[in-house]
Amino acid sequence: MRNESPVLKVYHDDNDEDFLTTVRNCLRRIPREIPPKYFYDARGSELFDLICTTPEYYPTRTETEILEQFGAQMAKLIGLDCVLIEFGSGSASKTPLLLNHLANEAYYVPIDICEPHLLHSTQRLKSMFPSMHMQPLCADYTKLSNIVLDDQTYSRRVIFFPGSTIGNYEPKEAVELLRHAAKLVGQNGALLIGVDCKKSPAVLNDAYNDAYGYTAAFNLNLLARIRRELGAQIDQEGFTHYAFYNDVLGRIEMHLVSKHKQNIRLGKETFHFDKGESIHTENSYKYSAQEFQKLALASGWYPKTMWADCDGLFNVHYLSLSANEPRHLTQYTR
Ligand code: AVI
Repeated sequence: MRNESPVLKVYHDDNDEDFLTTVRNCLRRIPREIPPKYFYDARGSELFDLICTTPEYYPTRTETEILEQFGAQMAKLIGLDCVLIEFGSGSASKTPLLLNHLANEAYYVPIDICEPHLLHSTQRLKSMFPSMHMQPLCADYTKLSNIVLDDQTYSRRVIFFPGSTIGNYEPKEAVELLRHAAKLVGQNGALLIGVDCKKSPAVLNDAYNDAYGYTAAFNLNLLARIRRELGAQIDQEGFTHYAFYNDVLGRIEMHLVSKHKQNIRLGKETFHFDKGESIHTENSYKYSAQEFQKLALASGWYPKTMWADCDGLFNVHYLSLSANEPRHLTQYTR
């Protein structure tokens, strides 16, 4: 019997290093870098959702358009009764565009590190798809050694990884993560993944410097989080958001730049910042379709089809672990 109860049990995987250790080690090293996954406390997750609504941040609406138009095709390819595992599900706003086309027997496993967000979004999806089995998992998906399902009778596992979060990893780490995804889904598994494309630097720079200031607030919230959760003494006003497209490396870089000489105190340690010194908080790599397909092949995945918008902003790739699965032509939105 499948569990059809509206009460959701959130599973936990605590295989995560602690925030204090990471921040302390990051501040001790030069250049100072804090991994972007720490943006996503409850406030950071809310701010990210707001970024996604801005006119400048095209990835969300473009990927949504692609899913709206091709969700049915995607569902057919991944299998209507698959186990759909979403990496970094967040508010899972695009997920219904796929779940709409899956059968009631499909099994949905959202994974996110922010528990309130995970619970809230899974509850929302459960109310939209009451008879679909859902098993939310609060974890860092990069650290999971396996995913134990409540119900073992399902055959195909498919990872859904929208939003171009793959771009937040160094290309080498991205290959490792794609290999890790292959292990989690096993032999006949598949991956449906959104990837942001290279494009005009002006469009990219605007996307990470929105006029409402949500991206700046999202970046600065990391300092607020360090203060709130770790009791650090930080003058948040003493730092400013800085984001730009690095054309040579093909990535957006986000930094928190010190406006003047100052110290951050964390426990017994003091970390000095000169004017202009920064904490590097995020990279967001952009890939052409060919570049990403090369990365996928290097990770053991076979690119089988791709959907794109007609302005060349964003791609959704369908990758399979089976060389024999048929390939299809790229499809473009109207
Ligand atoms: C989650 N990730 C794909 C976003 C990006 O575009 O790299 C995070 C983000 N950072 C600033 N704006 C959005």
